[in-house]
Amino acid sequence: MQKHTHDTLDRPLSALDVIFTRRSVRSYTGEKIDAETVRALLDAAVQAPTAMRAEPWMFVVIQDENVLKHYSDLTKASWLTQVSNHAELHRPHGLDARLFRDRLRDPAYSVFYNAGTLVVIYARGSAPFATADCWLAAQNLMLAACALGLGTCVIGSATATLDSMEAKVEFGLPADAVAVAPIVVGIPDRNAVEPSERHEPRVVCWK
Ligand SMILES: Cc1cc2nc3c(=O)[nH]c(=O)nc-3n(C[C@H](O)[C@H](O)[C@H](O)COP(=O)(O)O)c2cc1C
Repeated sequence: MQKHTHDTLDRPLSALDVIFTRRSVRSYTGEKIDAETVRALLDAAVQAPTAMRAEPWMFVVIQDENVLKHYSDLTKASWLTQVSNHAELHRPHGLDARLFRDRLRDPAYSVFYNAGTLVVIYARGSAPFATADCWLAAQNLMLAACALGLGTCVIGSATATLDSMEAKVEFGLPADAVAVAPIVVGIPDRNAVEPSERHEPRVVCWK
């Protein structure tokens, strides 16, 4: 199958084009996407399959710069204390541990890459397969954003911070909500997309 990029296409993206062109974006113009676009992404998210029709997802949309900075700072502080154990998890490719620590100490560095918008998908604690449903919604949201020419990146490193009781109270979530998928969305800077190849699918059995 031919793989496409946005640049080589002169027609609307198909579903397969979007699957093959979506890549995590870590550099943004900082411009906020408008409310109508956010709504369109959330509408796409909730089309995901959902176990027993539970639709256990809850969405928090954060565009306020001070709130984004607050949760970025909390995340950075928490990672600085754990960095020796977990640096590999979200250390950008090739960045050594010392540089990673320097980045976490840099007041200008945002774990949300100044994307302008953060959508956090929370699961209602008790629903069956709630986490699976939320990740499927997350992928729908990211593919829809890609189709609209927007960039996204999962920010797993901020999950614990966004799962805190402080965050749940601030965002009006029930106490049993579970932060599953923090996703930044924004307008990519030119050349923001880094190549990210995949191995061939590892088929271990095909009877
Ligand atoms: C559960 C999960 C957590 C992630 N957390 C982070 C993160 O904290 N920061 C980050 O820059 N990227 C994060 N990513 C993005 C991955 O690094 C990225 O998906 C991977 O390198 C493959 O690249 P691609 O998305 O461009 O195909 C996360 C992805 C997933 C699925």
